[in-house]
Amino acid sequence: MGVVRNLRQVSADDAGVDIAFRADVRAGLAQRQKAIPARWFYDATGSALFEDITALPEYYPTRSETDLLARHAANIAAAIGPDRAVVELGSGSSTKTPLLLGAIAPAAYVPVDISGDFLRDSAAALAAHFPGLPIYPVEADFTQRVALPREICPLPKLGFFPGSTIGNMVARTAIDLLRNWREALGEGSLLLIGIDRIKDIAVLERAYDDPAGVTAAFNLNLLERINRELGGDIPVENFTHRAIWNDVHARIEMHLVAACDMDFTVDGREYRMAKGETIHSENSHKYGPRDANLLLRAGGWTPIATWDDADPAFALILAEATEFRSAP
Ligand code: AVI
Repeated sequence: MGVVRNLRQVSADDAGVDIAFRADVRAGLAQRQKAIPARWFYDATGSALFEDITALPEYYPTRSETDLLARHAANIAAAIGPDRAVVELGSGSSTKTPLLLGAIAPAAYVPVDISGDFLRDSAAALAAHFPGLPIYPVEADFTQRVALPREICPLPKLGFFPGSTIGNMVARTAIDLLRNWREALGEGSLLLIGIDRIKDIAVLERAYDDPAGVTAAFNLNLLERINRELGGDIPVENFTHRAIWNDVHARIEMHLVAACDMDFTVDGREYRMAKGETIHSENSHKYGPRDANLLLRAGGWTPIATWDDADPAFALILAEATEFRSAP
């Protein structure tokens, strides 16, 4: 069957620049605390750097989650059952997605990702691995409303949201996303989601500031991307990478720190930064078991099973879109 059709739902302007990217950079650089949403890390270079991060010894989430999927494949398959359309939020990793698809015998697979090149590559690799499986890639931003291919309409659905990517959203955005996807997937659907747990601060900070400097390169590539796509002249060499634990918000924050006073232009607008000022580029929230379940419930999903590891702590949670009943 293989890759059946590629649905594109991304809008670019006349210069080929993603309209939402331009708007987010303009708004983010105009703020007192400059901030740019983390989803803009993932151009081709950023996506490749992220793949490198997942192989770092310090970056435990990918290994922990893959290990959970492999060890508990039979139980996960029994809880999910066969013949569902699997809708993956993200491109599909070369290790995690085959583990899931191989275990549960799905009826179709729909990867949804904003990075068209990555989406095509990973869909082609999966088609080779699962020749009988219909694959419908959707090039879209999964944080927005996405139209699903009509072919999967009659099938029961499983949302697959691995990697603890939900942690990259503040609670309000995470809940909006969970609610949107509950509506898109429909009542009776399931969601298998990876959630990173709160743990030792040194372990967390090392995972986001590795000695090889791969995470630093990933963070700095955001500035390179702005220069490339929005005609900027940001002096990237004058920025450094910072990753710190924010205990109030239970999250790792990544920042791009100005090493000196500077002026630069992006998209025809001028900006000034003083030494020590930062551009906040990512949040990676971590959740205790109760916090994670509360987040899912607030998003309309009822947790029904959890597979987790203690060291380093990470969880795979299966949740169900059950009918909402008001209760006292
Ligand atoms: C994609 N996301 C879940 C990663 C994370 O752990 O928050 C992105 C990342 N940022 C730095 N390292 C990895």
